[in-house]
Amino acid sequence: MCSITALAHLRAAVLFFLDISGSCGYSIAQQAALLHSIKSLFMNKPLIIVCNKTDLQPLEGISEEDKKFVAEMKAEAMKTVIGQGGEATNDEGVLLTMSTLTEEGVIAVKNAACERLLNLRVKLKMKSKKINDGLNHFHVAMQKPSDNKERPPCIPQVVLEAKAKQAAKKEKRHTEKNLENDDGGAVVYSASWKKNYILANDEWKEDAMPEILDGHNVYNFVDPDILHRLEELEREKDTGR
Ligand SMILES: *[C@@H]1O[C@H](CO)[C@@H](O)[C@H](O)[C@H]1NC(C)=O
Repeated sequence: MCSITALAHLRAAVLFFLDISGSCGYSIAQQAALLHSIKSLFMNKPLIIVCNKTDLQPLEGISEEDKKFVAEMKAEAMKTVIGQGGEATNDEGVLLTMSTLTEEGVIAVKNAACERLLNLRVKLKMKSKKINDGLNHFHVAMQKPSDNKERPPCIPQVVLEAKAKQAAKKEKRHTEKNLENDDGGAVVYSASWKKNYILANDEWKEDAMPEILDGHNVYNFVDPDILHRLEELEREKDTGR
């Protein structure tokens, strides 16, 4: 609740993530109830309902009852559009679907949130006194064509080459996700905590850490030959020498 309240004081867009597959353990009805209980905190910000995990459950496939809950949530988000001077007919970026597994819709969600936030900020700025005082100082020049000559954009060859080089580099980049996929996938792969250690010698990274007890290094008190000596002792005892 603390972070939700903090959110109310930030000039931010609010994304309400809904798990329509229900695999998180909460039904759509319960998630809708949560939204309705906290929505009043977000009324002056762009609110976006994001249906997540569409790989498990497409939005079209949910029950009629659940559809009603989603529609109600969408109506709440619509209020934030209208409250910020938007048109009641424009429901763009209000209810979105995405899946982190297939990465479908993720970028669209990000873009929609940024777009609505930006629009709101511009609107607020235009309303402020400062801008009206200064507006007559601004002039936006728009070029008019003086002839009908075609002037397509020209990208110099060197730039194109540099770009291609950059793209190739990006493709080769080995992210932690690549490593995971190469090395057994999720659950099986375990990331190395040590690989980014900054040491004088890279070979030391995987070294075992000394175990310290009462200020002493335990290893200093380990006798590597102890089993051997024990055997010797036993033998001595048996032969009675
Ligand atoms: C969306 O669903 C995925 C898969 O269950 C989950 O890992 C992720 O945290 C969810 N995203 C959000 C923002 O809730």
